[in-house]
Amino acid sequence: MSNYHIKHLEEYYQVYRKSVRNPEVFWEEIAEEHFMWRKKWDKVLSWDFTKPEVKWFEGAKLNITENCIDRHLYTRGDKTAIIFEPNNPEEEAQHISYRELHEKVCRFANVLKAKGIQKGDRVCIYLPMIPELAISMLACARIGAIHSIVFAGFSSTALASRINDATCKMVITSDGSYRGAKTIDLQGIVDDALEKCECVESVLVVKRINSEIRMKEDRDEWVQPLLDNANTDCEPEIMDAEDSLFILYTSGSTGKPKGMLHTTAGYMVYTAYTFKNVFQYREKDVYWCSADIGWITGHSYIVYGPLCNGATSIMFEGVPSYPDFGRFWDIVDKHKVSQFYTAPTAIRALAKEGVEHVAKHDLSTLKVLGTVGEPINEEAWHWYDDNVGKRKAPIVDTYFQTENGGIMLTPIPYVTPTKPTYATLPFIGIQPCLMDENGVELNGNQVEGKLCIKFPWPSIARTIWGDHQRYKDTYFSAYENKYFTGDGALRDEVGYYRITGRVDDVIIVSGHNLGTAPIEDAINEHPAVAESAIVGFPHDIKGNALYGYVTLKETGESRNHDNLRKEINQIITEQIGPIAKLDKVQFTNGLPKTRSGKIMRRILRKIAGKDGDNLGDISTLLNPEVVQDIKDNVL
Ligand code: PRX
Repeated sequence: MSNYHIKHLEEYYQVYRKSVRNPEVFWEEIAEEHFMWRKKWDKVLSWDFTKPEVKWFEGAKLNITENCIDRHLYTRGDKTAIIFEPNNPEEEAQHISYRELHEKVCRFANVLKAKGIQKGDRVCIYLPMIPELAISMLACARIGAIHSIVFAGFSSTALASRINDATCKMVITSDGSYRGAKTIDLQGIVDDALEKCECVESVLVVKRINSEIRMKEDRDEWVQPLLDNANTDCEPEIMDAEDSLFILYTSGSTGKPKGMLHTTAGYMVYTAYTFKNVFQYREKDVYWCSADIGWITGHSYIVYGPLCNGATSIMFEGVPSYPDFGRFWDIVDKHKVSQFYTAPTAIRALAKEGVEHVAKHDLSTLKVLGTVGEPINEEAWHWYDDNVGKRKAPIVDTYFQTENGGIMLTPIPYVTPTKPTYATLPFIGIQPCLMDENGVELNGNQVEGKLCIKFPWPSIARTIWGDHQRYKDTYFSAYENKYFTGDGALRDEVGYYRITGRVDDVIIVSGHNLGTAPIEDAINEHPAVAESAIVGFPHDIKGNALYGYVTLKETGESRNHDNLRKEINQIITEQIGPIAKLDKVQFTNGLPKTRSGKIMRRILRKIAGKDGDNLGDISTLLNPEVVQDIKDNVL
């Protein structure tokens, strides 16, 4: 019998030891007993971090949608798979049963096929949080097409670069999206993006907001009539364990976004197993993750992980502040949510609005609370614990990355004693370690270093789409034979982990990963800008916000700084999206640089964080004189 569901701490330690001592036996048992295979594997694992290459369940044949949908039809056909909660609370929620989901996914898959999409083709999905987002991604998986979902808050330029990078043949979008009281013209954004994308042959458009849109002949088509006429059954494409499932882009500290490639079997096994344990999901529970499916949290913990377990998973289209700041709690109350999973930034924003919004609602169904995406501060942790969980629902602070596929460090609720701000222990099968500045592993407890993982887990990304060398350089070159996360962490006296934050030039703003380089590139496109540097600074709600130091070209004329700030943010919005806008822009006479010309972001970070009196020795800089001026004018 495998240990699919861990129920107490001793069992955790025992199963953890087993998973580390004999990973192949451990994962083979989990895979064998809890999933549906068309053919079993020839080999559980082969790996080599120097190449890097990782293969799980090689030789196995399966389709992930059979695991997410078909196998539940006999036992849970009428059970709700997805609850769709619309942006406007006046609009009725939809309950989609496993049987209905099967039909919808099959119809969509048949439409994709009729449009010429085949196994291995890339399909870009640019949709709001409506059922068609989950349905179309599953439809891709059904026929072996690789979905590349782009968060529908990215700009047309960001969308175009992702479409081109993966040479997508098709885009699936909607006529628009609702976001609180606003509507957004998604199809218009796609239209603009496609001016730069020659690879796209067709666009399927979902009707959501009934807006008047321009349809380009021979390219754009409403999807509903096609779905209405499509067959309700679609044989799944039989995939190899290591066939590609999806690409999902994440920011790097330099260069263009990285298309992380995830494959089929290992991703399925790990996301399903983590979901079951991290949320202690039981058959009648209603689970809600408030992330967007455009991020890894949504892929793994709204769609694949929950559905593989036959769970009921809520998809929420709207925002926490609409129609008022009680919306999250209204949804918990209305759908009797058992597990609620959100980001620290949302908790901080809601805590600021006062407890009366929470107190109005019955939250007694909540058994587990989760957070993800960024470090949670002590105050927010306690607010969540006191007011939402009423100190009865354990908080799981889950740490992972797009690259990881599934949760890496986390308490298991009712199993692991929690500790505010700590992601606590590695999940089963995860072998973390901390490295010092000299690249030596830190042993024992009460140490702080850079977080690496020593051994492959089933859902690790296999490569960066189209750039394996970059995959190797980014994750496997800093430390020999180890996957480097890019995060710092400490291990306390009992061995609990706490993430201290990024140690590279990635900044986490409101739980979104932003690389400094693409933002600086965008700013530098402004004709008045000579150069720029972006750093993060602490922000009450967003965790970090962006601070830009901008040096203007010498022209002799005076410029209106407020207008320039607006123009700079406008360019950033166009090139990347509103999430990357700067909170503060300071105009400088120069940026501090090393003798080799590298911008010293460490100094700029300290100044922006109001710690400018603590800069250490700056005499070795190429231009130490600019530092005082920057300090004097800090915003
Ligand atoms: O810095 C870590 C932070 O988010 C980064 C990964 O971002 P992304 O790939 O967008 O995935 C986010 C959702 C899984 C990490 O390198 N991060 C994520 N979870 C936590 C966290 N930092 C602290 N605590 C967490 N629980």
